[in-house]
Amino acid sequence: MNKIGIIGSGTMGSGIAQVAATSGCKVKVYDTNQDALNKSKVALEKVLLRLIEKERIDETEKNRIQDNISYVNSLKDLADSNLTIEAIVENLEIKKKVFSELESYVSAETIIASNTSSLSIASIASSLQKPERCVGIHFFNPAPLMALVEVIPAIQTSQKVFEKAVSTIKSWNKTVAVAKDTPGFIVNRVARPYYGESLRIYEEGIADFATIDWSLKTIGGFRMGPFELMDFIGNDINYTVTKTVFKTFYYDSRFRPSFTQQRLAEAGYLGRKTGKGYYDYDENGRVILNESEESHNSELAEQIFNRVLVMLINEAADALFLNIASAEDIDKAMTKGVNYPKGLLAWADEKGMDWCVDSIDELYNEYHEERYRCSPLLRKMKRENKTFF
Ligand code: NAI
Repeated sequence: MNKIGIIGSGTMGSGIAQVAATSGCKVKVYDTNQDALNKSKVALEKVLLRLIEKERIDETEKNRIQDNISYVNSLKDLADSNLTIEAIVENLEIKKKVFSELESYVSAETIIASNTSSLSIASIASSLQKPERCVGIHFFNPAPLMALVEVIPAIQTSQKVFEKAVSTIKSWNKTVAVAKDTPGFIVNRVARPYYGESLRIYEEGIADFATIDWSLKTIGGFRMGPFELMDFIGNDINYTVTKTVFKTFYYDSRFRPSFTQQRLAEAGYLGRKTGKGYYDYDENGRVILNESEESHNSELAEQIFNRVLVMLINEAADALFLNIASAEDIDKAMTKGVNYPKGLLAWADEKGMDWCVDSIDELYNEYHEERYRCSPLLRKMKRENKTFF
């Protein structure tokens, strides 16, 4: 798999091209927009210069990486690829059209992959004459820095294609987690309560954004609090992902989006990129707000942290219960894909199944909402006195 075609030279396509080229593959990057191709090239130059500054690579290595990448104007130019990875706009109809055209140029052996975050791989694969050659290969942003890649076989994907995809991604020095073709795969499903439950805590008036962020960082050891993180990702993007997951789970209340975030997105308070989100930012991207008084109330912080953590554990356990991925891959996905300080299932073991079940039941008894239903797996493990690892 040394000839790689990348379709779409935006944030993700550019990052994936850099990863493959660094590993010695010959990469062709295609985009319909010439401007996007130019930007991708300029961005790579900047990234590599910064790596030289940090003494992580030398000039020879920079030239080697750049020589491995060419930028092309026609989809036809990807004809000799062994593997193509599509990272264009998140629109099923457009992706299907591109896949179908691409298939008419490439050889029968070419693997055609998508980096989609929210569409089903089965639906994308259905656009191909040979759907068994299609697989989901989902990188995280920024692709060169994030170790995790989720590999998602569709129901049509052949075992050979799946295995080839896994071995190729591993040869690019990435950590693979295998996920079932279900909404949000692993990370974007299991991480939902980090945002959703934090928003709910805020909406109930229990604490402000800064207090909740402080709790998760100080007590939980998370690198960024949920509100900081949503501002970083962009409230438009994070809200859209939540909405898509909610809809594709047939409106399961566990994934219900929040009006607070919807209003922010509607108002254009998108976070860092607009200078205003949950927080206000100065021109250097630093938060202007002072830390709240409440952030020093450690009892409240502990309660907030425990509530968000148990909701995350419940989601991770339920993903395992429904065979979305193995316990190892679920924990790997959250530590390597979104930098959680610990795997959630290992965290459940540490806290104990009694604590997990009792904490979630307490929430259910308080609210009587489906959102707070305990995963049957946690209950079973408590009953049988088991641990995940
Ligand atoms: P982006 O907007 O930065 O880049 C998309 C690029 O695709 C643009 O340069 C656009 O000109 C090009 N494009 C659009 N239609 C095209 C077509 N028909 N043929 C060729 N090129 C076309 O988008 P981004 O963020 O890189 O996302 C791309 C894909 O990766 C989406 O499916 C997204 O869901 C997924 N993804 C995004 C992540 C993120 O954090 N941004 C993380 C993981 C996956």
